[in-house]
Amino acid sequence: MNEVSISDILNSNKIVDKKVSISGWVRTFRANRFIALNDGSCLSNLQCVIDYENTDDKVLKAISTGAAINVNGTLVSSQGSKQNVELRVDKCKILGESDPELYPIQPKKHSFEFLRENAHLRSRTNTFSSIMRIRSNLSFAIHEFFKNNGFYYVHTPIITASDAEGAGEQFRVSTLDIKNPPIDENGRVDYKKDFFGKETNLTVSGQLEAEAYAMSMGKVYTFGPTFRAENSNTSRHLSEFWMIEPEVAFMDIQGNMKLAEDFLKYILSYIVDNNIDDLKFLENRLINEEKQKPQNERSELSLIKKLKFVIDNDFKIITYSEAFEILKNCKPNKKKKFRFLINEWGADFQSEHERFLVEKEFKCPVIIYNYPAKIKSFYMRLNEDEKTVRAMDILFPGIGEIVGGSQREERLDILLKKIKEVGIDEKELWWYTDLRKFGTAVHSGFGLGFERLVMFATGISNIRDVIPFPRTPQNAEF
Ligand code: 4AD
Ligand code: MG
Repeated sequence: MNEVSISDILNSNKIVDKKVSISGWVRTFRANRFIALNDGSCLSNLQCVIDYENTDDKVLKAISTGAAINVNGTLVSSQGSKQNVELRVDKCKILGESDPELYPIQPKKHSFEFLRENAHLRSRTNTFSSIMRIRSNLSFAIHEFFKNNGFYYVHTPIITASDAEGAGEQFRVSTLDIKNPPIDENGRVDYKKDFFGKETNLTVSGQLEAEAYAMSMGKVYTFGPTFRAENSNTSRHLSEFWMIEPEVAFMDIQGNMKLAEDFLKYILSYIVDNNIDDLKFLENRLINEEKQKPQNERSELSLIKKLKFVIDNDFKIITYSEAFEILKNCKPNKKKKFRFLINEWGADFQSEHERFLVEKEFKCPVIIYNYPAKIKSFYMRLNEDEKTVRAMDILFPGIGEIVGGSQREERLDILLKKIKEVGIDEKELWWYTDLRKFGTAVHSGFGLGFERLVMFATGISNIRDVIPFPRTPQNAEF
């Protein structure tokens, strides 16, 4: 017997009259006759029709929502209007029962909050399996883009001794006894006695190590988990998230912006081409959700139109100073509607400002570059004005910052000066500064927050709902 998936069945053309075997989970069972079977391979269920008169009562009773079953039978053209084919079942085997009284995922609409509490079962819903299929294809498209463009994939370490972003938001990695740690002569914890002989943390970014590989292999990228212990409980922050970080030798900030734009357009086109059923499902969900909102809060474009809009239109590119002028003179700033008012050049933009630029002013993705040096990381290339650095952020509608990147400071003396200024011990970064001693060159890169990309691609508004098992402050269940 041919063991197949529902996706195989729906994607092949000569299927009627074939005998197949399929395993999956029961979504619904009605009239003691019709099983809606889902195996996760695609959004669609397969209707399986049971001959109940010739089926054991015990089996019939066990076919309930959530149960795992295997069905054997013949594919036939369907009488119903909802599907083209259905399975006429010869044999139904119960693989794993599911108590209908206790199974949390009922065939009805559940709230996102409820499903977060049942994250181990939420991928059995259409919404979550669609999100996760899109997530899977986005990561495939990312690798494909880089492969097609001559990049090598490098695996940067998860455990590091350096704080790449210098924001001090790291999780410590230690095997010391926290109740009774060894103490040095100054009365401080003696990390020399720790596992690695020094203080180590989970990485906040693979960038610094990726730079070493760009300075030898030219074009590289890393795609891995990153960790931040920032205590921000927002719908856009996770404590553990995935980041894609390309790093390219001999490329400046202009090349970096172009690479990021081409990259984002490529991966979004990939899912429009390959996940249309999932996207349509999520789009309808959103349309229904929008109906509950007042007219002026509804989004102007549906999900798929929004993706196509980003794919087909140029991103708006402006400098920090231009963005600053727009924000300083905009209505919400003048009318003191912003929580943080924009008055002085050098202020960091908050998400309310980013959203204004993207959603009200330009209504398209915006790249802001040449930021004040003071609000950006130590490794960014200082401009001739000595006030700004060649940083770039990409802002997306509904998301805000999705990409952060820069041209890197390749000049040893200036980098060393900056390292001192921000109070990092130069010795800790000896290998990073070595890269500026031996064959230094212009180079650039950026980091794309993978979950923020998945949010944009699926229209899901809380970042906790686009990663299988979210890690956030006070929450590491599952
Ligand atoms: O802007 P960030 O902090 O940049 C870096 O880490 C650089 N080292 C990247 C590079 O140049 N190679 O982070 C990059 C992106 C952000 O734009 C955002 O999309 C995402 O990572 N991000 C988060 N996503 C989810 N939860 C968080 N707590 C995030 N912090 C950053
Ligand atoms: Mg950033």
